[in-house]
Amino acid sequence: MIYLETETYSAASRLAADRIAELVTQKPDCVLGLATGSTPVGAYENLIRRHEEGLDFSRITTFNLDEYVGVPKSDPNSYDFFMRKNLFDGIGLSAASTHIPDGMAADPEAECLRYEAALAAAGDMDLQLLGLGLNGHIGFNEPGTPLDSQTHCTPLTASTRTANARFFASLDAVPTQALTMGLGTILRAKAVLLVVCGESKRAILDAALSGPVTPDVPASVLQRHPSLTVIYTPEAPHSSK
Ligand code: F6R
Repeated sequence: MIYLETETYSAASRLAADRIAELVTQKPDCVLGLATGSTPVGAYENLIRRHEEGLDFSRITTFNLDEYVGVPKSDPNSYDFFMRKNLFDGIGLSAASTHIPDGMAADPEAECLRYEAALAAAGDMDLQLLGLGLNGHIGFNEPGTPLDSQTHCTPLTASTRTANARFFASLDAVPTQALTMGLGTILRAKAVLLVVCGESKRAILDAALSGPVTPDVPASVLQRHPSLTVIYTPEAPHSSK
């Protein structure tokens, strides 16, 4: 494992973007696994700047970790909307090269199987970017999720719904279910980049990296990944998005 600690969120975001930009330069047709939430917003801003300076993203393919169930793409709270606003539009990516589980699918189980098949057909992620939930989740793999899980439909815990309520009009408006890559899916990435910002996540990060590998702390499964880079800063993300 490579562990990097920075003083500021800006520095952590720059490091994360550098790692992604390096991969895109070395392998212009790479497959990137991406995350939403507040953590990666700074890295995405850096990548948009790199694109404006000439970095070509036109041949990459992306797969997002997760999507809420029942939130249409046109809704600003959908992860599809978030990705277009915070990254895809800024680096010139069209829907054809980006993949996000369809939270509006009539048959969520079939959608999860379709997503796994699309990932496998693309050769899985060259690099998976992850944030960390306060309860140790990665993607929406909540505590108790089997360590070998594949893309699946999951109920969201009270902790996760409360943490994400800041984006919604009220706690009641936060979706109760999501589609998410599984822990086994994430482990298939050739490299993993875990970015963790804020003192409030220090304890769960320590548990994930140094405690037992257990479904109780889903991110602990990353100890089994042969190519894990962790970037930690005590500073919380600037964005409240
Ligand atoms: C987002 C995701 C989640 C977040 C995690 C941290 O696609 O899968 O696991 O990475 O909840 O969220 P933030 O960055 O908002 O603290």
